[in-house]
Amino acid sequence: MKKLLLLLLLVLSLDAFAQHDPNMGIIPAPVSVKKVQGDFKLSSETIILTDSPECRAVRFFAGYLRKAGLGSSITDINLIGKKDGVMKNSVTLLTNFKDEVPKEGYELFIDENHIVLNGRNAGLFYGVQTLMQLVQKKNDGTATIPCAAIRDYPRFPYRGMHLDVSRHFFDVDFVKQYLDLMAAYKLNTFHWHLTDDQGWRIEIKKYPKLTEIGSMRAQTKIGRAAGVDSDLYDNTPYGGFYTQEQITDIIHYAEDRYITIIPEIEMPGHSVAAMAAYPELSCDPSKSYKVRETWGVAEDDVYCPSDDNFKIITDILAEVMDLFPSRYIHIGGDEVPKDAWKKSEFCQQLIQDRDLKDVNGLQSYFISRIELFVNSRDHNIIGWDEILDGGLAPNATVMSWRGEAGGIKAAQLGHDVIMTPGSGGLYFDHAQLKSPQEPLSIGGNAPLWKTYAYDPVPKELDKDKRKHIIGVQANLWTEYIATPAKAEYMLLPRMLALAEVAWTPTANKDYKNFAEMRIPHHLAHFDAEGINYRVPTAIGAKDTTMNGGKFNIELASPVEGATIYYTIDGYTPRETDLPYTTPLQITVPEHNTIDFKTIVITPSGKRSVVTDMKLVN
Ligand code: ACM
Repeated sequence: MKKLLLLLLLVLSLDAFAQHDPNMGIIPAPVSVKKVQGDFKLSSETIILTDSPECRAVRFFAGYLRKAGLGSSITDINLIGKKDGVMKNSVTLLTNFKDEVPKEGYELFIDENHIVLNGRNAGLFYGVQTLMQLVQKKNDGTATIPCAAIRDYPRFPYRGMHLDVSRHFFDVDFVKQYLDLMAAYKLNTFHWHLTDDQGWRIEIKKYPKLTEIGSMRAQTKIGRAAGVDSDLYDNTPYGGFYTQEQITDIIHYAEDRYITIIPEIEMPGHSVAAMAAYPELSCDPSKSYKVRETWGVAEDDVYCPSDDNFKIITDILAEVMDLFPSRYIHIGGDEVPKDAWKKSEFCQQLIQDRDLKDVNGLQSYFISRIELFVNSRDHNIIGWDEILDGGLAPNATVMSWRGEAGGIKAAQLGHDVIMTPGSGGLYFDHAQLKSPQEPLSIGGNAPLWKTYAYDPVPKELDKDKRKHIIGVQANLWTEYIATPAKAEYMLLPRMLALAEVAWTPTANKDYKNFAEMRIPHHLAHFDAEGINYRVPTAIGAKDTTMNGGKFNIELASPVEGATIYYTIDGYTPRETDLPYTTPLQITVPEHNTIDFKTIVITPSGKRSVVTDMKLVN
């Protein structure tokens, strides 16, 4: 190891060869990157040396090399007595090393003859992800990795991505692909929104009607005109759920990628699908309930907080806790419609008997009683920030979505908090540009730069309380996302910005470097892999009006290998138009306007929206 370090120090002093991009294309940007001259060549002869052949990160890396047709045989260092790991053409993955690396961190040294990666568990896995991002595949079947020394660890321990599978159902293969994407960008928590008014998606053996009845809706609302839901329905039954066997399979898949899955079982609101299956859960079992066919909050349907119902709900939670290894269970708690509680004699009596103030007190009673049960099973609850109303359950973690106020309040009270405010660009069901060229969305505007700019630690939070912000998450609600292609479109590339918010030290964040130097390479990868994403507009193209006689137009492609096409006469550009290849000098005659429009078309045929720059003289 000493020999290797000396060698590295020598090459590090030649830092003048630092590549153009100080982050070497890596997303999320690491804590420290030192680029050095030269490349390591990966070939079919490359061997993996390790002190932990059974480590999931080691097996993951070997699997990656095998798929790429590169050397993937694993040799146990302990068996060959080569503890320093210095062997030509080797990649050494070490979990037992002296240096201190922060939790989930890693150190990666690449020179022309060896690669050495130090990290424990998730740390080693994240080092592998960085290494994989650095691989440059060659046409001859080999690949190179540029030499460098990287030290890295995350800013936050909780780095989450959410998926709503109730409004629309996404199958096992899609969920696995989602986990693959998360893992590649060092996100470690998958918040699985499994139940809501529009569908119950998890098999519960003790209450089979939850999926027999609750997973199917008769039809679905379609379309949205002028921001208002239409009156059109598709007249097509819609449903789907995961068996416990499928869930276990997905949990193992996530574990292999160091991802914890937090299941969300919504209560006491957002629960119409469950009430359609078991009307006794409601405050008025004489009413008939059907799995909701439209969006928005079901205004007067909520679980009734009776002892019998607590028995059903805790039975469900017990099965969920047996299934998922996560320490956290998300119990929802948002947007609870309280009218039914106001009208219910039982609830009013309960408020009196328990000396509660009002229906908010009843909500607090409900959540605290659930928390007591969950805590008794050595688990903890997470809830949306409404669980603060009427008093926060003693050990609850709060997910702050209605801005940051709830998160700040909870952190000041000493509770852990996950920031996920829609106002911070973390609702990925919001549009990526306010434009009719974008697909239908729930509304809002969360462009890439906005997600990127978000800082999860509010300035107004007392310094000693900042440690309670354990992380950040983005949410993908799927009312208006019915297909995998659209889910990918809404997710990417914003998830990459989220990853950098969650991982990278604030001082290393640089939007220009992220969007212009790193993103294009990653999008080219998605393009080649058949993963959908939003194609950004050409770098340098704007929707604006500019005044003057002479204009220099300098553009760059936001996706490596894509072509920018343009028109100067107001026509919508397409692949039959002029490709942009070199900066343009445009002279606009006096009293004239040139309508300069661009589109980006990628190698797989994906298209950006059209930009429109009016050059006025
Ligand atoms: C939420 O968006 N209702 C948590």
